[in-house]
Order: sequence, then C-alpha cells, then structure tokens
Amino acid sequence: MFLQRSLKQGSLFCYNHHMIKKRILTGDRPTGPLHIGHYVGSLKNRLILQEDYEEFILIADIQALTDNFDDPTRIEKNILEVTKDYLSVGLNPERVNIVVQSQVPELAELTVYFMNLLTVAQLERNPTVKSEILQKGLTDKIPVGFFVYPVSQAADILAFKADLVPVGEDQVPMIEQSREIARRFNSLYGPVFVEPRELLSDSPRLCGIDGKEKMSKSLNNAINLSDSREAVEKKVMSMYTDPTKIRVSDPGHAENNPVFTYLRTFGTDSERVRELEQGYEKGGIGDVEVKKYLITVLNDFLDPIRERRLQYERDESLARDILRQGTKKAIDVVNETMREVRKAMSLIRFD
Ligand code: TRP
Repeated sequence: MFLQRSLKQGSLFCYNHHMIKKRILTGDRPTGPLHIGHYVGSLKNRLILQEDYEEFILIADIQALTDNFDDPTRIEKNILEVTKDYLSVGLNPERVNIVVQSQVPELAELTVYFMNLLTVAQLERNPTVKSEILQKGLTDKIPVGFFVYPVSQAADILAFKADLVPVGEDQVPMIEQSREIARRFNSLYGPVFVEPRELLSDSPRLCGIDGKEKMSKSLNNAINLSDSREAVEKKVMSMYTDPTKIRVSDPGHAENNPVFTYLRTFGTDSERVRELEQGYEKGGIGDVEVKKYLITVLNDFLDPIRERRLQYERDESLARDILRQGTKKAIDVVNETMREVRKAMSLIRFD
C-alpha cells in the first residue's frame, strides 16, 4: 500500500506544460518459465507501476547468453514463454513495452563505449558477479562476456534514460555501477544520461517448495505460473514442512514452514490461515490438511492467470506481435539516445 501511494505521487513531472510520465525499465533473463516467486518479487510491482509509469520490460536474451552461450535454443524458446507469463498475469501491452534485447543492437554498441569508462578492478568488486562466479565454479575461467555483463546492463538502463529500476537486492550493485558510468560519461562528453534510482521490492524473497531460501528454476523447487492444477497438486503434496511433526497430534512449527509462508502470501482468508496455524502448532491439524488447503489457495490464485494464458497459447502470433510492437518502441527511444551519444563522443556518422 505504502509503495503504491508513494510511487503514484512521484510518477509525473512537468515539461513544457505537458505532464510526462516517468520511465521505468526492468528486465529478466529468459532462461526458464517464471514462477510464483517472480510474481511476489517483481511482477506484482510491475502491475501496480504500469498504471502510472511508462514501463519497458526487457527480455534480456543477450545477457542470458553470457552464461548460456552453449545453449542458445533454450533462450529462444523461453522468450515467448516469458512473454506469455507477463501477459497472463495481467501486464497490459497497451501500457507496457515488452522488448527483446538482442533486437536493439544499439544496446551492444553502447556497451562497447561504456567499457572504457570503468576499470577491471571496479568490475571485480561487484558482489553479485563475484558470488555468481563462485556459484558457477568459474573462478579461473571467467568468460569475458560474463564478467562485463554489468556494463551491458548499464547500457540497457541508461539507453532508455530510465528514472527508476525496480529490482531485487542482488541487482543494486548494477544500478550503482550504472550511475557511476552515467556520471563518468556526462563529465567526459557532456550531459546525456539520467542517473537512475533503484526501487527495491518490499516483499521478502519467496522460499522454494523444498524450504531452501530461494525459489529458483535451476534449483528445481519452483511452482511456475504456467503449472497445471495437477502439477501444483503434486508439487504441494511433496513440499518440505516441519520434520519434527510426525503425527497429526504432535505440536508443529508454522514459522519458517514453507507451506504456511505460501498460505500467508497467497491466502485471501487470513482468519482461516490463522486457525490452521494455531491447530498445526498445538497439534490436531496435520500436513495433509494444510497442504490440501494450500492447493486450493494456489489454484484459486493461478486460475485467472491460466485463463488469460489460453488465448496466447492458442495463437502465438499475438505474443509475437506484442514483442514486435514493444521492441519497435524501444528502438525509437534508444536511437534517440544514441544520436546524442555519438554526437557527444564526436563519432562521425554519414547520415
Ligand atoms: N540482471 C537481471 C536479472 O538477472 C536482468 C536484466 C538485464 C535487467 N537487464 C536489465 C534488470 C536492466 C533491470 C534492468 O534478472
């Protein structure tokens, strides 16, 4: 609620007596289907923001290649899937522009210019890249493309002159580096870029069905937005709960229990959730009963999403057209910036 109100107040500014909407840029790597963790962490915010901001959503296929260059067909396939996920949750293509990163080649051009504006040491300090390198076991064989992806992300953000970038905690270093690059560019070549601000999601990260801290397609612990009713049922029945509660009559723990975390996040009847929590903790209510209820809650949440998805499954040209339109709009915006960039940098153009 607070997020909603404070954002609405700051979403417009006046320019030559016209009210102009501020611009937002967000992005996802298209490496797999989006899940309910994405919904809580970012999609829900994007739905609110689309009302008052000019919103661009980048399907970052170039960035996805930096750690999937050996499997490009996976990325190709997921571009349409992710687009359908966006549309099914209710992102309105009349309001948001969904953009395929690789189809705006000027973003790659800008990345090359930006590479002069920061040092290897600065990139090495980026904590998100650092932990990804460790996680992926890349320490002594870091692909250059992967190492510099924050520069490419800065190019994404700055090329659109985004005022706000809604992200999770792990992306904050990227926005900081984008600001550094913007300042360096502006002081060297002249004022072209806007310094973007991050907009942190106020909802905590959703855990996986295995109880692990993060829901993630690569950990195979996600409930996808495109999962069928049967798939949801199967996944919920296999969920990790309280290992110390063996019989229904045993007292159990509802806190840090993923089944209850999901119920608190997606349940619409908080009274009923509280009752179940109390019964579970005291004894008398067991895993099967709460899981059955969670199946209903999740399917009630996902049904309208599934319903909206149907039309896009039936006719894939709908999603393709939406991508084409969004990308076209992006090309216009980015080209405008690039004209300023080339002029500021004294790059000769023959047009
Ligand atoms: N790095 C983001 C992720 O891993 C994806 C991304 C690419 C992005 N370009 C962006 C996010 C620009 C915000 C703005 O999910």
